[in-house]
Amino acid sequence: MEIVIRPTPSEVSTTVADIVERYVRRGPATLGLATGSSPLGSYRELARRHRESGLDFTDARAFLLDEYVGLPKSHDQSYFSVIRSEFVDHVNLDPERVLSPNGESPTIAEEGARYDAAIAEAGGVDVQLLGIGTDGHIGFNEPGSALTSRTRVKTLTEQTRLDNARFFDSVDDVPHHVLTQGLGTISEARHLVMIAFGKGKAEAIAAAAEGPLAAFCPASVMQLHPHVTVVIDEAAASKL
Ligand code: GLP
Repeated sequence: MEIVIRPTPSEVSTTVADIVERYVRRGPATLGLATGSSPLGSYRELARRHRESGLDFTDARAFLLDEYVGLPKSHDQSYFSVIRSEFVDHVNLDPERVLSPNGESPTIAEEGARYDAAIAEAGGVDVQLLGIGTDGHIGFNEPGSALTSRTRVKTLTEQTRLDNARFFDSVDDVPHHVLTQGLGTISEARHLVMIAFGKGKAEAIAAAAEGPLAAFCPASVMQLHPHVTVVIDEAAASKL
């Protein structure tokens, strides 16, 4: 695991954009996209490079990490919509080539296996961006998630619903269930890139990188992966 500590969040975003750009320039790339605030600066930087230096996403495709269950795709807080408005609409990545778990599927119990099959059919993910929850969750794999888990329905903890209430009118509007790539699914991406800023993430980063490999810190699954880059600012690195 390589840990890159940058002085500021904007330099973290530049470093992450450099990594993604390398994959996009190398040929048809399959990107793993994450929601949450941590990757937003990297998405903005990639959009700037597309506008100003013609970084070309024509041959790229992408898979999202997770999605709320029961929220229509058209809802502005569905992760499908968030990735569209924060990233896809600002680059020339074909929206048809950006797939997300279908949180409205009438056969939701089978959706996880369908999604994993679609990722496999695309040849797997080349580079997976990841944020981290303050409790060490990645995607929506809350503490206690099996390290080998596949894409499936999960129930959000009250803490994660409260954390995400800022995006909704009230906490009552935050869905209780989600579809998330499992820790096993995420680990199949060939390169994991974790992004974190701020003191609030310092404990989770220390537990993920240096704590015991354990289901109570889902992000610790990265310790088993052969190619991980953790890109963080000094505050998020303060407990390493
Ligand atoms: C949500 C997302 C995660 C994300 C986390 C942290 O739970 N499902 O993918 O990592 O939020 O978000 P932020 O980057 O805003 O701190």
